[in-house]
Amino acid sequence: MPRHILTAVAWPYANGPRHIGHVAGFGVPSDVFSRYQRLAGNNVLMVSGTDEHGTPITVQADNEGVSPRVLADRYNRVIAEDLQRLGLAYDLFTRTTTRNHYSVTQDLFRQLHANGYVVEKPTLSAISPSTGRTLPDRYIEGTCPICGYDGARGDQCDNCGNQLDPEQLLNPRSRINGEMPDFVQSQHFFLDLPAFADALGSWLQSRTDWRPNVLKFSLNLVEDLKPRAISRDLDWGVPIPLPGWEDRGDKRLYVWFDAVIGYLSASIEWARRSGDADAWRQWWTEPDAESYYFMGKDNVTFHSVIWPSILLGYDGEGAHGGSPGDLGRLSLPTEVVSSEFLTMEGRKFSSSRSVVIYVRDFLDRYSADALRYYLSAAGPESNDTDFTWSEFVRRNNDELVAAWGNLVNRTLSFTAKNIGSIPEAGEPTDADRGLLATTSAAFETVGADLGRSRIKAAIAESMRVVAEANKYLSDQAPWKLRESDPDRMRVILHTALQAISDCNTILAPFLPHSAQQVHTMLGRDGVLAPSPELREVDDLDGGPSYPVLTGDYTTAARWQSEPIPTGVEVAPPTPLFTKLDPSIVDEELARMEHGG
Ligand code: MF3
Ligand code: ZN
Repeated sequence: MPRHILTAVAWPYANGPRHIGHVAGFGVPSDVFSRYQRLAGNNVLMVSGTDEHGTPITVQADNEGVSPRVLADRYNRVIAEDLQRLGLAYDLFTRTTTRNHYSVTQDLFRQLHANGYVVEKPTLSAISPSTGRTLPDRYIEGTCPICGYDGARGDQCDNCGNQLDPEQLLNPRSRINGEMPDFVQSQHFFLDLPAFADALGSWLQSRTDWRPNVLKFSLNLVEDLKPRAISRDLDWGVPIPLPGWEDRGDKRLYVWFDAVIGYLSASIEWARRSGDADAWRQWWTEPDAESYYFMGKDNVTFHSVIWPSILLGYDGEGAHGGSPGDLGRLSLPTEVVSSEFLTMEGRKFSSSRSVVIYVRDFLDRYSADALRYYLSAAGPESNDTDFTWSEFVRRNNDELVAAWGNLVNRTLSFTAKNIGSIPEAGEPTDADRGLLATTSAAFETVGADLGRSRIKAAIAESMRVVAEANKYLSDQAPWKLRESDPDRMRVILHTALQAISDCNTILAPFLPHSAQQVHTMLGRDGVLAPSPELREVDDLDGGPSYPVLTGDYTTAARWQSEPIPTGVEVAPPTPLFTKLDPSIVDEELARMEHGG
């Protein structure tokens, strides 16, 4: 039975172009996982979009001297284009400023409120004495009241991982100009997190197959839950849908409250656009639906505490009871798949200090598959990991070009030159059978790793099989048999081409662009590795039009060994990958020093 699998990918802020650290955490792993699941015959719905509210947007809009709306439009487009070029096959990549998203967010808020999980109370807001404007939480810094770390921010302490409110900081100061904020009282809405402690605890206890560090971190958070503010003194965001609040220009829902709801609103938008407005339910309200959320580790608390609490409250399953809203009972995440951080040449990514390489610039100079390969093989899956240009060149040249590219290239050129078509299987020897047993078995082993988002192990195992195929070819040396035993030469080439076909299917989730090329070179029809499209669409409810990423990802290809079509013509291959000159290492390092 095909499974229904929701791939929920963290929403990048539309406040600037994304760098490769971002796509290492949320982008590439979620796409590799989804492509595998589709090939395995499952029904995947992969959604995300740009996160366009809150202070991350307003602060950058001020920096660039434009309105939040103009800023969000600008970077929504840049980000969607970059993700398209990387080949990330979203069913829908949308944005949080659609009317659909506003109405889904407000529905959830109203139901949480009706079920008694949203409480209103006076709270302190930080105001900058020199400008009179509200100081965003993350622009306040001070000493963490829990662990004593001095660089804690007003929203979170990066040292102990606890969520904070700015007024809890000892010695609070503005990160913009160092002044001490004034705290003034105003009314705000809070999500009653303690009311979910039991439900969250038993849900997390049942998540035994999560990555251990993610589970441990999440269980810790549930130990000490406090009500959490979900409104802000801000004029940019989703209005609070209650009488007396809706029309207030100065209060909005907190950006993290609306952003996580994006997974649901994007699924609903996708369904509405598909012509079956209820289609989203298969991934949200059916008891056996599964959902996998991909993100960097700084997002874990929002996905393993805040979002599940919103869902439990909507469903009426916290300590205050209640009943599900009109959408029905919504499912909690199956797994929160979090990666660690990527650093850049030993330093933290930082646009301001130009320790950065943007996706766009990367793809202008190197191929998408080269980047995808590197991030799959050497990404920050379960440890902080350093990106270095020399390691990028080494992996590209020694692994992608010398192992996989060369296997394809030498086998196809030799076949094109000496036979011109894919030869028959003939009488296989033990060596032939052995190689094909190895490639067939890899569907099981690599598939098991990919099904659990173990991207690194999966690509390492794939490349081990590629190495076996290279060894087979060198041992069998068909080029020595041209005159002496042409029949045996043909059997060897048949076997090598079959092995390449198998490896190519296995590598397709990681390397979709070159996999499609190999697929065609092997004389196969149709699509093995579909590409996302960037489309301009109308807002479904009368708002302005916007670009989305979407695509038709149905394919006849399957996650299994498929016999190669003998007799079809084999043309001399075009190279799959480009060997990089080691001098690019110094060039790129110099670019970094000079600020891009
Ligand atoms: N914009 C957030 C960030 O970049 C991620 C939002 S993920 C979602 O850290 F859950 F809100 F969607
Ligand atoms: Zn702390």
